[in-house]
Amino acid sequence: MNILILGGGGREHALAWAVLQNPKCDKLIVAPGNAGIARIAECADIDILDGGAVAEFAQENAVDFIIIGPEAPLAAGVADRLREAGLLVFGPSQAAARLEASKSFTKEICDAAGAPTAAYARFTDVAPAKDYIRQQGAPIVVKADGLAAGKGVIVAMTEAEALEAIDDMFGGEFGAAGAEVVIEEFMEGEEASFFVLCDGETALPIGTAQDHKRVGEGDEGPNTGGMGAYSPAPVLSDAIAERAMAEIIRPTLAEMAKRGTPYEGVLYAGFMIKDGQARLVEYNCRFGDPECQVLMMRLGGQALDLMQAAAEHRLAEARVNWADDHAMTVVMAAEGYPGSYRKGTQIRGLDALPETAAQMCFHAGTRAAEGKVLANGGRVLNLTARGATLAEARDRAYAMADTLDWPEGFLRRDIGWRILG
Ligand code: AMP
Ligand code: GLY
Repeated sequence: MNILILGGGGREHALAWAVLQNPKCDKLIVAPGNAGIARIAECADIDILDGGAVAEFAQENAVDFIIIGPEAPLAAGVADRLREAGLLVFGPSQAAARLEASKSFTKEICDAAGAPTAAYARFTDVAPAKDYIRQQGAPIVVKADGLAAGKGVIVAMTEAEALEAIDDMFGGEFGAAGAEVVIEEFMEGEEASFFVLCDGETALPIGTAQDHKRVGEGDEGPNTGGMGAYSPAPVLSDAIAERAMAEIIRPTLAEMAKRGTPYEGVLYAGFMIKDGQARLVEYNCRFGDPECQVLMMRLGGQALDLMQAAAEHRLAEARVNWADDHAMTVVMAAEGYPGSYRKGTQIRGLDALPETAAQMCFHAGTRAAEGKVLANGGRVLNLTARGATLAEARDRAYAMADTLDWPEGFLRRDIGWRILG
């Protein structure tokens, strides 16, 4: 089977690594890829937001299966263009990707499906939005409706902060994404992520994870795309997961199917968990990054069979073979991230790292030049490891980080603190 993966971050490196464990994979191309991906697969420089260009490339290269990593091509309708061209695709249609691309759409679906989530109201004008905030009081959560690269959510602990967020959003800080604003009840509890494969009808859970969104140790400092993650997430117990499947995930899929826009691909549900119940914080229409890295490390080569079963509408007959293991990924980022940071600093010591089924360094933002590997993004490396316990996975991940020579990089030392202390 010839496989094409779209994307070029740590998530796509992990997907590529897992796909290559499966003997079914004859040839793997990743577009655009990065320096780490280039070590294991062919990289192609195509515009992954251009569905026509991707379809043409896939046909010219006899690609049998396309896995779409990031949300941008999904929201742009690339999966639709590929399906129209008769290609087999893993990833939702543009209409189904609205579960991530529009927060008010997700709220509407939750209402129709009866799925537990925060109470909310939506606004397109400043004055009524501010009145609502004054009525409700703080804490309260203000969200730009559209995709804002993870920055469109303000969890306001004071009324003043919430009012300021309204000015910023309607003032155009998030461009078109902020033309509509969703204001939500602040939910208390512990967050965890739930990953479910969907084929339009059947939903198959493939794992849980917890992310560390703040840049600093002790969960201090500004939000990032994620500084580390582990799987499984003990707070999302089997009982809570089963209840969430019944109350949130299956009703969502049924509602999407009823509307003629069935959801196919991976549904990433962010939950707030309290008193044995999950409520939905958000949906994403793709794997989390860096959560994908720990999921792929635990699933290995079967990930390809599962994604293929989803794309071919055969999930009802698919099974996940679970190992009783744990995985952790630690993100190394460029000094300054999530603010401004330098690109082009050299990372040494990568060649000496182990590359096994239990330890892998996935590249998130790197570029090769003159035989060197250079940092080429904010989040740069994902030191990912598996173990019989989370402590073992953590020790293996940090052991890799400690052998690297990259003075301009930094990491959090406390990934997994909720469990490991
Ligand atoms: P989102 O982009 O919707 O995932 O929001 C980003 C982060 O904001 C989430 O991971 C939560 O930590 C927080 N958040 C979003 N909505 C709420 C809410 N209604 N109550 C409490 N925290 C929230
Ligand atoms: N790590 C959070 C995300 O992928 O959205």
